[in-house]
Amino acid sequence: MVRLLTRDELRDILAFYQEAGVDDALVDEAPDRLLSAQALANARAPAIEARADSVARQTVVPNAPPPSSSVSSVPSSTIGPDEQRLYDAVPDRPMSVAAVPDEGQVMLARELAQKARTLDELREHLASFDGCNLKYTAKNLVFSDGNPEADLMLVGEAPGRDEDIEGLPFVGRSGRLLDQMLAAIGIDRQTAYIANVIPWRPPGNRTPTPQETEICRPFIERQIELAKPKVLVTLGGPSSKVLLKTTDGVLRMRGKWRTHVTSSGVSIPAMPTLHPAYLLRTPAHKKLAWRDLLEVKVKLASLREMIE
Ligand code: URA
Repeated sequence: MVRLLTRDELRDILAFYQEAGVDDALVDEAPDRLLSAQALANARAPAIEARADSVARQTVVPNAPPPSSSVSSVPSSTIGPDEQRLYDAVPDRPMSVAAVPDEGQVMLARELAQKARTLDELREHLASFDGCNLKYTAKNLVFSDGNPEADLMLVGEAPGRDEDIEGLPFVGRSGRLLDQMLAAIGIDRQTAYIANVIPWRPPGNRTPTPQETEICRPFIERQIELAKPKVLVTLGGPSSKVLLKTTDGVLRMRGKWRTHVTSSGVSIPAMPTLHPAYLLRTPAHKKLAWRDLLEVKVKLASLREMIE
């Protein structure tokens, strides 16, 4: 017999979800993750056969270009029927299942990113790219905000809940702090260009995996290359590490000029600084970010003077 949960039990479960970062319901009904192993195996068998078949076909035709859909329709890791139902319940999701990013998808991402000749094309390519699993749980692609022609470009890590809902970077609490930080050096978000390394919100705001970062990296690198900012600001450790190709921690590297080199070899001065979300938790460090932004202001002014 099914026992109904008491009000207190329900409250405890909700508190647990909240602490675990589950702040969004994708479907009304929770997927049954306790399906029998046999049911899961049966559900996966056709996909595994399809993959074996695809591998066999690719082996028979040497040098044949991989079919563009192969990446997402024949994934290296398949999902069960419950997860498929979950994806299908979200409007506008491609019907294909999501794959855990692998090297093939990273290569496809590089190819697509390089093909884009404008930022609009890049956004279109990213929107049509099915190779990153994060796309399937996000509501919106978060590509950019502000002025793509701006001298200053700022890059964060990944969108949060508010950004996912609005489809714009840095519009939540940390975005409001970022606006204040920019205002302190006489800049507003419409006179800067803002983006993230990862353009889809990781579920529950978890940290993106290294594979997810690798698959998104070609797109943000191309975005910087096409926007051609005079100065780049990397917000927080993850963005700084990815774009400045270092393993140094952000507290160590902040405040010192580094260089971001685009794939066509253009060097852009880059200032790593503290992420606004970190500053909300550690307000005593706001003064450090303030100093970094003053450096940015001076650099922008000197670059403008050189042009005039
Ligand atoms: N944190 C980020 O890194 N990016 C956003 O867009 C919002 C919060």
